[in-house]
Amino acid sequence: MRTQLLKADESALSLAAELLKNGQVVGIPTETVYGLGADALNEQAVLAIFAAKERPADNPLIVHVADFEALDALCHVNDMARRLSDAFWPGPLTMILPKKATVPTVVTAGLDSVAVRMPSHPVAQEIIRRSGCPIAAPSANRSGRPSPTQASHVMEDMNGRIPLIIDGGESDVGVESTVVSLTGDTAVVLRPGGITPEMIAAVLGECEVADSVMRPLREGEEAPSPGMKHKHYAPKAPMTLYAGEQTQVANRICEEYDCVQGGVKPLILASRAHLPLYGSRHVFDLGPDAASAAHALFSALRYADEKGFTRIFSEAYPEEGVGLALMNRMARAAGFDIVRI
Ligand code: TXA
Ligand code: MG
Repeated sequence: MRTQLLKADESALSLAAELLKNGQVVGIPTETVYGLGADALNEQAVLAIFAAKERPADNPLIVHVADFEALDALCHVNDMARRLSDAFWPGPLTMILPKKATVPTVVTAGLDSVAVRMPSHPVAQEIIRRSGCPIAAPSANRSGRPSPTQASHVMEDMNGRIPLIIDGGESDVGVESTVVSLTGDTAVVLRPGGITPEMIAAVLGECEVADSVMRPLREGEEAPSPGMKHKHYAPKAPMTLYAGEQTQVANRICEEYDCVQGGVKPLILASRAHLPLYGSRHVFDLGPDAASAAHALFSALRYADEKGFTRIFSEAYPEEGVGLALMNRMARAAGFDIVRI
């Protein structure tokens, strides 16, 4: 299959909508990361997503809508969902709600709940509207690879596997949406993202965070969200995170960097203010703060792979605000190899 990569102009948007109506899979920009979209109500189309991505069938997809009313056909909306969507939609928040029978079980991997989100990216909204269907879309990486934040990343992973990728520019947030379960009495964040637990608590009065967010699952422990049990966000190079007082962290990273053995090509990931601490070593600049680091992280991991770096040393960030989402992805990329100094 030939894969077209088109800028998001008028004719590209009509082509995307046409393909989606016909049960095809299209790479779509969103404000979080690029998605691999197909008609959520067409079982064959959804199966084609799993095939293109090589995604395990037990990991459910998010269904994307362009307006709140579209939820009625998909799930049972409750008061928490109404208040959160008023506050944060369109935007990087995915809500888990009890599903209706219209949603094929392949979408939800057999669960009785469904994940729904209204993206704020104008191109994503326009494509959903024109296609006339709710769009099931996981991140557009091949399973186990870092999520794509640029159309070129989608091309790297999906060339020859899908007919079309729409280029809508670089994703703004850079990490996937916050996933919050609203199926119980209290909201529970299963995956941290751009909408923080503090922001959700400010609307609902309270919000829990699943405690497996910042640690690996224990042997035999059931994952609150199936995505948590799968390997994720991994660069090819082994990665270690260093947490603690900044100059001590930088000194330790420099030590480790300087004593790698022959043939190993190390890369440091650091925030902008600390760049001078690393002298002339290879450093990827994660920008001034946690938000810029979240925006840059997946590009940094792909950069490391592409340039043949074989060892990554990264600064850790405080696990607060968007830093929780950033550290959730960094810790998984590092296989939870975190050195506390
Ligand atoms: O920002 C995003 O969320 C992007 C863009 C494309 O919207 N999508 C995305 O999808 O990250 P994906 O498939 O890579 O991640 C969806 C996560 C997975 O961890 C999955 O296990 C979880 O949401 N999930 C989906 N449905 C669920 C459900 N019914 N219950 C619990 N977790 C669910
Ligand atoms: Mg993903």
